[in-house]
Amino acid sequence: MRILVCGGAGYIGSHACVVLAGLGHRVVVVDNFVNSSPRTLPCLQRIIGAPVEAHRLDLRDRDGLRALLAGSRFDAVMHFAALKAVGESCAQPLDYFDNNIGGTIALLQAMQDTGVRRLVFSSSATVYGEPEQVPVREDAPLSATNPYGRTKLVMEQMIGDLCRADPAFRAASLRYFNPVGAHPSGLIGEDPCGVPNNLMPYLCQVAAGRRERLRVFGGDYPTADGTGVRDYLHVMDLARAHADALDYLVRRERNLVVNLGTGRGTSVLELVRAFERVSGRRIPCEIVARRPGDVATLYADPARARRLLGWRARLGVPRMCRDAWHWQSLHPRGYADADVDAPAFVAGAGQVASGSARNKRVDATPRPPAGPPPPSVGVRTVAQWSSTTTSPRPGR
Ligand SMILES: NC(=O)c1ccc[n+]([C@@H]2O[C@H](COP(=O)([O-])OP(=O)(O)OC[C@H]3O[C@@H](n4cnc5c(N)ncnc54)[C@H](O)[C@@H]3O)[C@@H](O)[C@H]2O)c1
Repeated sequence: MRILVCGGAGYIGSHACVVLAGLGHRVVVVDNFVNSSPRTLPCLQRIIGAPVEAHRLDLRDRDGLRALLAGSRFDAVMHFAALKAVGESCAQPLDYFDNNIGGTIALLQAMQDTGVRRLVFSSSATVYGEPEQVPVREDAPLSATNPYGRTKLVMEQMIGDLCRADPAFRAASLRYFNPVGAHPSGLIGEDPCGVPNNLMPYLCQVAAGRRERLRVFGGDYPTADGTGVRDYLHVMDLARAHADALDYLVRRERNLVVNLGTGRGTSVLELVRAFERVSGRRIPCEIVARRPGDVATLYADPARARRLLGWRARLGVPRMCRDAWHWQSLHPRGYADADVDAPAFVAGAGQVASGSARNKRVDATPRPPAGPPPPSVGVRTVAQWSSTTTSPRPGR
């Protein structure tokens, strides 16, 4: 199948591209690189062993998106493209509504206009808010505790409404728990911008000497060791679930909402110890106050995914830590250390849209405020790059 992967240069989208290409699908990446590096693309190409078509495009650029979808026949869309930092969403809620909900509306409209009727959507366990019971099942009450979570909830609801309005439209909303780890090659992995929001990349940066110590939020939860318990899931297991979900949409012709987790909880300190064993590095920890909105324990009931998709997580916590550390130790500064050229994006009109190696946010450079999408600098652009390169490049 020919699959449009929105946000395909990001952490989870890039791993999904590897799995999809390995199954013989043709992937086409769309990304505006707001939270990723164009250098992901040549790294992806190395793993896949074939060119990957990529377009620098903001989903909110309706004309550009429609032109892309109309220009060649897609069998399905996978939609990873969103802003995802909870704290940032509290500080800049309008940016989150604009990007996540606005981008999704534009995507759904372009799909409808061009007759593409299969969607796999990246949802999140955040849609359960503060669940009353664990493990959490898909029929648990839904709520949002922050603007990011609200965007996920609204996007799921919009997709559900579209499925009801158009019986031929098929969608899978995949509620991820805590994706971690990296492709075993160490060529692609999680490369957070600025201070990591998630535990595993923070741990990796402490182990790599980029940060002094890990701050553990809350040591007095009603859990075995007092620290929060979460359901960590290897990103390759998660990526595989996307292929299974697409297969379900095609074969079963039904819509799907499903949890993706292991069904096992791991505390912060358990994860730290496992990481120390695998990396051979000591991780200094400091227990600090709880973060508002964090729950003590959250893990999935993954039975529905098992029943409907035949999917279950295969890789355990030691493997998650090993692959995360492998990626980090090969790339202490993330994709800035990747031994590849950043691709140049060549505009449809013929001019070079951007040869820039970096347009990702950094701590010191806040994203522009919410508003209309940026000018169509890279619309209908295709990334071109050579498959191998010489020396590491500075920056992204
Ligand atoms: N990583 C997690 O812990 C986690 C957990 C639950 C759900 N999710 C969801 O999974 C999806 C992928 O997450 P990720 O960790 O890979 O994040 P990521 O930031 O690494 O990837 C998202 C990609 O989308 C791109 N993007 C964002 N807005 C865009 C827009 N308007 N137009 C075009 N491209 C755009 C970014 O540049 C980035 O490459 C997101 O929707 C996220 O909310 C992630």
